[in-house]
Amino acid sequence: MEFDIQKAIQKIENLPTFSQAGRRALAMLSEPNVNQDDLAIIIKSDQALTAKILAAVNSPVFSLQREISNLGEALRFLGLSETRKMVFVATTHFLFGGTQDYKTWQHAILSATIAEKLSETCIEQINKNDAYLAGLLHDVGKTFIEKIVPVVYRQVLPSLTQEMGRLNAELSLFGMDHTEIGGMMLDSWNFNEQFVNAVSYHHSPVFAFANPLGHLVWVTNQTAHLDDHEASDDGKITTRTIEFLGLHSINQLEDIKNKAQVEVDIFLKKMEALL
Ligand SMILES: [Fe+2]
Ligand SMILES: [Fe+2]
Repeated sequence: MEFDIQKAIQKIENLPTFSQAGRRALAMLSEPNVNQDDLAIIIKSDQALTAKILAAVNSPVFSLQREISNLGEALRFLGLSETRKMVFVATTHFLFGGTQDYKTWQHAILSATIAEKLSETCIEQINKNDAYLAGLLHDVGKTFIEKIVPVVYRQVLPSLTQEMGRLNAELSLFGMDHTEIGGMMLDSWNFNEQFVNAVSYHHSPVFAFANPLGHLVWVTNQTAHLDDHEASDDGKITTRTIEFLGLHSINQLEDIKNKAQVEVDIFLKKMEALL
C-alpha cells in the first residue's frame, strides 16, 4: 500500500504557505536591535496575525484592567520576548491547525523551547530564534502526512510503527518519511540549507552533525523524547554532543527538558486565544 505523497508535495498548491508578514516579522525579531514601531507596521500588514495577537493579549490569562485595541500598545505590553514567541506560534500554527494529533503540536513547542535553551550554552554560535524555529518545525512533515492521508495516518501508521519503527513504517506506506517531506517543505518555503538539512536529518546523527543547527535539532528531539524512548533508534547522546552543547553532564538535559516543559505548559495556556 503506497500513497503518492511525492506527487502531492510536488503540487505546490497543496503545501501550506507562510504568511509573508509573518516571515518578515520573524526575520526582524532575529536581529539584535528590534525597532518595535517597524515590527508593528509589518505585523499590521497581516490582519489575521494582528487579530490573533490582540485576541491573545486581551484573553483572561493576561488579566488586563482594560482592553488593548492598538497593536503597538499590545507589543509594548508583551515585550519583545513574549511577542517573538507569539509571532512564531501564530505564524506556524496553521501548519498544525488541522492536526488531530495534539501531541505533535505540544512536541513542536516543547522542542522549540528546548532548542532555544540549548542554543544559549552551545559552543557553536546558533541564533536562538533559529534554534526555536527549527525545533518548532522539525516534525512538520508529520503534519503534512496527516493532512494528505488522515485516515491512514491515524489508523494504519501507528500499528505499522510498532512493528517496524516510525520511519520504516512511513517509508513503506508513502515511499518517503516525515524527515524528507519536512525538508522538502522548508525548501519550498525558501529556508536556507542549514534549516532544510536540520529538518531532513533530525533522526540521522551522521548527517545531522554536518551542521551545528542539525546537531542541535537532533539532540533537541532526543531530549524531548527522554521519557518515552521514541527516539532511541536515532543513536545515543555521547560526550561529543554534551561538549558541543557546552554542558558537563548528560543529566543536565533532563533538567533542561523539565524546565522547558513547565514553561511550555504556561505558554500554551497563554496561546489558547491565539490558536
Ligand atoms: Fe521526527
Ligand atoms: Fe520530533
